[in-house]
Amino acid sequence: MTDMTVNIGGLHLANPVMPASGTFAEGLGDVVDLNQIGALVTKTVTRELRAGNPLPRVAEVASGMLNAIGIPSKGVPYLLEHTLALYRQWAPPLVVSISAPTAEGFASLAAEISVPGVAAIEANISCPNIEADGRAFAMRPATTEAVVRQMRAATNLPLWVKLTPNTGEIAEVARAAEAAGADALVVANTILAMAIDLQSFKPRLGNVMGGLSGPAVKPIVLRQVFQCARATRIPIIGCGGISTAADAAEYMLAGASAVQVGTATFLHAHAMIDVIEGLARFCEAHGLPRVTDLIGALKHEESDEEDLSWVAPAP
Ligand SMILES: Cc1cc2nc3c(=O)[nH]c(=O)nc-3n(C[C@H](O)[C@H](O)[C@H](O)COP(=O)(O)O)c2cc1C
Repeated sequence: MTDMTVNIGGLHLANPVMPASGTFAEGLGDVVDLNQIGALVTKTVTRELRAGNPLPRVAEVASGMLNAIGIPSKGVPYLLEHTLALYRQWAPPLVVSISAPTAEGFASLAAEISVPGVAAIEANISCPNIEADGRAFAMRPATTEAVVRQMRAATNLPLWVKLTPNTGEIAEVARAAEAAGADALVVANTILAMAIDLQSFKPRLGNVMGGLSGPAVKPIVLRQVFQCARATRIPIIGCGGISTAADAAEYMLAGASAVQVGTATFLHAHAMIDVIEGLARFCEAHGLPRVTDLIGALKHEESDEEDLSWVAPAP
């Protein structure tokens, strides 16, 4: 029997598999035993009520999907009064994903949701910062550091910071989040993309551009997990195109301590359970007593010919 437990920045999980924010809701509990999952993660919540983006909001593309949902939200009172009570029926810790348009907004929201029943906060800083031309906070180290520092001062809960893959400096952004007090990093959100309908000549998303997810993004995000793991000492939660236990094992070998499954759940409701069971079998087959033995166990020789210096430039 493989020991599947992991510790993510002070939070003890029965196994390293959880849903990706926005691809999961409590209704999945009708078809899957949610008590088997490492943690439960809410859809991103904002302070205000939000309607979300124009339709269509999703489009299927080769090996993945595009979405531009726009974070419709029922607001914080609904979360505190309804959602938290609902999740009490399940044992795994509840991680609440939050978003705000300013660093101050992130901090006050983090403080407001630091209540019993919330085990950790996942700050989705892949969203536009209205104080920086609408660029996502996590595109740059300085804006990442500022927003994480303010949140850190506002809550004692474990603080997970979800990065965007849409940056050329993910290692520096990861380091900035760590320096500002993040307990873990979620790597990553969706990759900015678009698709065009050749009948109508119109964009296939009402919002024109959206986020690419699913198997298409896996090799890119896997590389970013490797970069972030080399650049920091805090746990990394890998997220991008994980459909199988083999995908999850790759992420853990690259340095992830846990994984999130998103788009795959839309295809197979049991995807997370299959990943958990398959990871245990994978460890047994490789003679590893603990799933944590996989973390960063990638074997690679750094030779003179192989230049990995760009992966995580020295601080
Ligand atoms: C329909 C949909 C909605 C999403 N909503 C959110 C969200 O509210 N907050 C967030 O941080 N990420 C959101 N994401 C991104 C996922 O959490 C995840 O980072 C991304 O889909 C990559 O993982 P995957 O390839 O396993 O789907 C959403 C993704 C999809 C497909």
